[in-house]
Amino acid sequence: MKLIAAVDKRWNIGYKGDLLVRIPADMKNFREITKNSVVVMGRKTLESFPGGQPLIGRVNLVLTRDENYRPKGAVIAHSKEEALKILESYTDKEAFIIGGEQIYRMFLPLCDTAYITYIDYEYEADTAFPNLDEHPDWKLLEESEEQTYFNLEYYFRKYIRA
Ligand SMILES: NC(=O)c1ccc[n+]([C@@H]2O[C@H](COP(=O)([O-])OP(=O)(O)OC[C@H]3O[C@@H](n4cnc5c(N)ncnc54)[C@H](OP(=O)(O)O)[C@@H]3O)[C@@H](O)[C@H]2O)c1
Repeated sequence: MKLIAAVDKRWNIGYKGDLLVRIPADMKNFREITKNSVVVMGRKTLESFPGGQPLIGRVNLVLTRDENYRPKGAVIAHSKEEALKILESYTDKEAFIIGGEQIYRMFLPLCDTAYITYIDYEYEADTAFPNLDEHPDWKLLEESEEQTYFNLEYYFRKYIRA
């Protein structure tokens, strides 16, 4: 199982239910990496998408504790165990954990690869990702050249379980 996230300098990931910043080339990278996969997310992350719509071209597996929540075009799980059971039925597809904070923390111990867009800036934020540079179980495997978007500098990084 793999995960993908965009973090700022302090490993923050979101503010008031939305991303910290939208970088078109990062969105493209996300689409490329996750295409045809099962993307696993929390209910709040699904609701942060435009129109609350699931991502096209991927199986959207959404965690909620609400038994009555039935968003169109998404597969629902009511616990981590149920999500894992559902993932077993998609053996032909890769699974990507795509957030937010609650879901990253829940599945990080089951992941072996993390695609991290590291944005060299400090944003106001209310949700975060565990800092993999300080995490004994993870090591940085690859880092892209510096990327820029207006005055922002960012890097595509790949971490693996050490
Ligand atoms: N930078 C990035 O790469 C990135 C990626 C994704 C999201 N984000 C940001 O992260 C923020 C959202 O993160 P978040 O932590 O607040 O929310 P979240 O992880 O997206 O969703 C949390 C919801 O998931 C459900 N949930 C959590 N644990 C569960 C369990 N054990 N069983 C069943 N359902 C469970 C609950 O839904 P119910 O309340 O319906 O029960 C909970 O409210 C937003 O700002 C978003 O933009 C950033």
